[in-house]
Amino acid sequence: MSQTLLPRVAIYPGSFDPLTNGHVDIIERGARIFDSIIVAILANVEKKPLFSEQERVSIIRDVFTGKDNVQVETFEGLLVDYAQRKKASVLVRGLRAVSDFEYEFQMALMNRHLAPGLETVFMMPAEQYTYISSRLIKEVFTLGGEITGLVPAVVEEKLLARQKKKEVRR
Ligand code: PNS
Repeated sequence: MSQTLLPRVAIYPGSFDPLTNGHVDIIERGARIFDSIIVAILANVEKKPLFSEQERVSIIRDVFTGKDNVQVETFEGLLVDYAQRKKASVLVRGLRAVSDFEYEFQMALMNRHLAPGLETVFMMPAEQYTYISSRLIKEVFTLGGEITGLVPAVVEEKLLARQKKKEVRR
């Protein structure tokens, strides 16, 4: 039986505020497995994000320059509707620890309820990234802690530049 194989498009959704090396690791793994992976930044949620949506798009594009099968977009509304518009058959989510499981399990099953043909695939980042989260990065940086090696250089540079600007204004 002959079957036309369609390109397998995966979506990696999230807030990415900011992008961490854990996210980068998952995107790289996804890009090796799927024909293309769309990093989809949820728009219009947080009132006070660290980086604006456009800054987050530009940071992720910068990190993946030259990787043609990695695209970066923002989306609004239901993830399953966005996935349908993009003709994606897979959602990728990273699983760091058992603590992630309950939230991720609920989301995966809700998405399956809404769109039975859309499969959620969980991927584990490299061990050295299992304790990193955007929330902790924000907190540690704001309180003066070291984040080198936990986020891409461009994220650290932007944060440091912002901090300097604030110091000059004071
Ligand atoms: O990295 P995050 O912030 O945990 O990502 C959460 C995200 C963006 C994947 C989730 O909030 C989402 O998909 N929001 C879009 C609205 C939606 O579809 N909600 C129902 C999900 S079951």
